[in-house]
Amino acid sequence: MSKDVDPADLMALCKRRGFIWPSFEVYGGVAGMYDYGPLGCALKNNIVEVWRSIYKGREGFVEIDSETVNPREVFKASGHVDEFADKITYCTKCQTPFRADHLVKEFYENPDILSLKELDEAFVKHGVKCPECGGDLGPVDEFNLMFKTNIGPGSNRIGYLRPETAQGIFVNYNNLYRYNREKLPLGVIQTGRSYRNEIAPRQGMIRMREFNQMEVELFVDPEDKGWVRYDAIKDEKITLVPNTTEQPVEMTIDEAVTKGIIANKVLAYFVNTTKQLLLRLGIDPARLRFRQHLDDEMAHYAADCWDAEVLLSYGWMEITGIADRGCWDLTRHAQFSGTDMSHFKKFDEPVEMEVDKVKAKHKLLGPKFKAKAKDIAVAIEAKDPEEAKSGKIVISVDGEDIELTDEFYEVVRVTEKVSGKRVVPHVIEPSHGLDRIFYSVLEQSYDYDEKEEYTVLHLKPEVAPIKVGVFPLMEKDGLDAFAMSLYEKLQASGLASVYDGSGTIGKRYARMDEVGTPYCVTVDYETLEGDLKDTVTIRDRDSKQQKRVPVDKVGEIIRNLMSGADFDKI
Ligand code: GAP
Repeated sequence: MSKDVDPADLMALCKRRGFIWPSFEVYGGVAGMYDYGPLGCALKNNIVEVWRSIYKGREGFVEIDSETVNPREVFKASGHVDEFADKITYCTKCQTPFRADHLVKEFYENPDILSLKELDEAFVKHGVKCPECGGDLGPVDEFNLMFKTNIGPGSNRIGYLRPETAQGIFVNYNNLYRYNREKLPLGVIQTGRSYRNEIAPRQGMIRMREFNQMEVELFVDPEDKGWVRYDAIKDEKITLVPNTTEQPVEMTIDEAVTKGIIANKVLAYFVNTTKQLLLRLGIDPARLRFRQHLDDEMAHYAADCWDAEVLLSYGWMEITGIADRGCWDLTRHAQFSGTDMSHFKKFDEPVEMEVDKVKAKHKLLGPKFKAKAKDIAVAIEAKDPEEAKSGKIVISVDGEDIELTDEFYEVVRVTEKVSGKRVVPHVIEPSHGLDRIFYSVLEQSYDYDEKEEYTVLHLKPEVAPIKVGVFPLMEKDGLDAFAMSLYEKLQASGLASVYDGSGTIGKRYARMDEVGTPYCVTVDYETLEGDLKDTVTIRDRDSKQQKRVPVDKVGEIIRNLMSGADFDKI
């Protein structure tokens, strides 16, 4: 179905029915920016709720909401200031900017790994010219994708709009760790806007400049990469494209772990959780696969990374990345902020160990620092021996920073009973692109009903923006009042409903089918009197079957159908 969908038709429907509108359209629009209309907002929120119900519900994760503007220090530490760039070239004649790797994609399997020099050479070798005007292309350069701003007046404090929500979780690690009573694993989710100043936004909602992510950061013990419910899913089958063969293979989760294809059990578990999430949202399992990043494609922080890819009219498209980020983020933020971001891992029993300790030289401290000597000695002995080995430390006493050389301390090796050790947690990250999921769900549910000659969205009831359309057969004789009262009851009970009394019943069904409403209910004359008094007709979007049911049971029946009950058996 998907391959036959023309994205222009789908986007036209989205615009007409209030799912998606190009932003700032009255001013000519801005590439890569879209607004969600009422139905789009509802569908997007429903997707987020399914994601939340899995992570906050079943897996017991906590949710936070952090700032979108971050000071430069955050992204210097994360590596985005130095690494988060695409390669750009400008036409020397018409000045149009292009992503350099996109211009040579027909000649190379993986053009995004070519260096600046290799791209310059590729233009010459393959005679690549400006696609707009045929002019010569200028030298290829790096273009950082972050939007830069100033925090406060003046330009002293540089800030960036976040390119991923993840960093807001990493910089809050210590708060979250304390909240979790200093235990691992610690699972945190966050959804919100991210910003990337894409050189050439294209393919509608696939490459946007402002987009939405649903990110999950799971902090785990680096020496224990299992997961408590792994055994429950280890025999699930999954389609993988490993980077060694680049061919799709179907295997069980456990086979993938045992053969070393997926790096560890916890990563594999969340690859499978991603699959479950996407299927629940309505992604077709036959058009879903998990592709492992090639070694040179991996992000600067990733130790192993898998993309959930779906088959769309554009071809296979990444909608979620699931990475083992190792200890990259916490190590870097600890280093750049000077804050400890580790976990104290208790041993089962205290063990005797040789450890380094910093010892103050009391005899020298006394004459030099007099009354302060005792506090200084305490501060010295609290220092990290590794830092002290550099020959210089800075301590803080009574708000004063004091720099000391190793004239005043020594690092000694002692045998001690220790009850545990500090480790830097590793991070497992399923990072979902909400807009890409939204688009994929729409595209894969899009269908043209040849018989009725109109478009149907076969959205899963759980994500459909409207669950029930309520119609009076005619807008008169009390049918309208009865239908309106039913609509109000359903809406108040939490089932998103609409009342529609205009046009023929066929037209009203068509309007509901086109926006993916799974059920419609019609009130007719028999509802008001006779043997069938107080019954209404319920109609199923996909099978087009209709049944007569008691009006006071409509809400319950729809809820049962949404939970998977068979329409035949209601
Ligand atoms: N924290 C990890 C991270 O951000 P990513 O692979 O760069 O990883 C995660 O992004 C997901 O965000 C992608 O799988 C994609 O679905 C979505 N995404 C990334 N850039 C996007 C863009 N410009 N427009 C829309 N979605 C985007």
